[in-house]
Amino acid sequence: MIHGQRALLDADLEQVVGRLHSEETSVAPYREDYRRLLDNHGKMIRASLVLMFGRAQAGSSSEPFAPESPVVTGAAAIEMLHLATLVHDDVLDEADTRRGQPTVHTIHGNKVAIYLGDLILSRYMEIMASIAPTTSFIQEQASTVCEIVGGELLQESGRGNTSVSRNYYEHAIQGKTAALFRLACTTGVHLSVDSPAPELLAAAHDFGQHLGMAFQIIDDIGDFDVAHNSGKPKLEDIREQIYTLPVILGLESDPAFHKIVELRDPLKVLDYLQAHPQLIEGTKEAARQEISQAQQALESAPINPKVASILNALARKLAAQV
Ligand code: IPE
Ligand code: MG
Ligand code: MG
Repeated sequence: MIHGQRALLDADLEQVVGRLHSEETSVAPYREDYRRLLDNHGKMIRASLVLMFGRAQAGSSSEPFAPESPVVTGAAAIEMLHLATLVHDDVLDEADTRRGQPTVHTIHGNKVAIYLGDLILSRYMEIMASIAPTTSFIQEQASTVCEIVGGELLQESGRGNTSVSRNYYEHAIQGKTAALFRLACTTGVHLSVDSPAPELLAAAHDFGQHLGMAFQIIDDIGDFDVAHNSGKPKLEDIREQIYTLPVILGLESDPAFHKIVELRDPLKVLDYLQAHPQLIEGTKEAARQEISQAQQALESAPINPKVASILNALARKLAAQV
């Protein structure tokens, strides 16, 4: 018997790591690359959401999931979907490093990176199809992939456009990040409960949605946090002419900032943000509001109280970064 929800989650995550490690590709020339990508997992926050919502129903078991359980398999598949989008994202963003390692396209070029990303995405679909409890489960998976790609494309459409609005930014990150967080939460519910209460599903949906928004806003602040190593390159968004919330707030409030942004010198933009701390502060406030909405989604929902408390702890951990 394992005590404590944190220890339980750690035991479940071990199973997910094992599941990812057991993945193989038959495409011999890229077997090693596939292996390296799946083994170099990140913090596995999305897998954790699947697992936590996999025991969110009141009265759920306090034993770790079996390695072959649908919740563990689904959590691994959600991480694979995330990984596939990252391999593609690093091509779009021309990023050299990811999770502290060189990105696929820097080693093999863009063509291989696109197809390896597609391969991981296809396996995610194959795995989800093999455990899908209903057709609508597969519909939700597929429509969320459309949302994620739509968010990335929307962001792409605004590259280099200094007139982009806060509303545009929110739409882009809702698609590219919040949709996947939301999917992770609802996937955990669907894979563990036959006919979930609508209130439980709504809580999973809203918690994931708001936590995902906060997560991306904080990730975007991190791109300007040059003093803190995150395993990813810094000032990447501004270098690639992606304007995130701190920059958009500056563009909306100061016409002179447009000229600075148009110089395409990331350090000048960083100087401006450091001289105008209200822009990062306004962005942090937006993240805090999303976190508080995520926490509200758990209040009065029919959720296993131990799971609600670990979800709240996760939200507080994110809040501590802003
Ligand atoms: C990551 O987006 C890709 C998706 C969310 C689909 P970003 O480009 O903003 O994030 P990092 O900084 O490369 O991880
Ligand atoms: Mg990127
Ligand atoms: Mg990107």
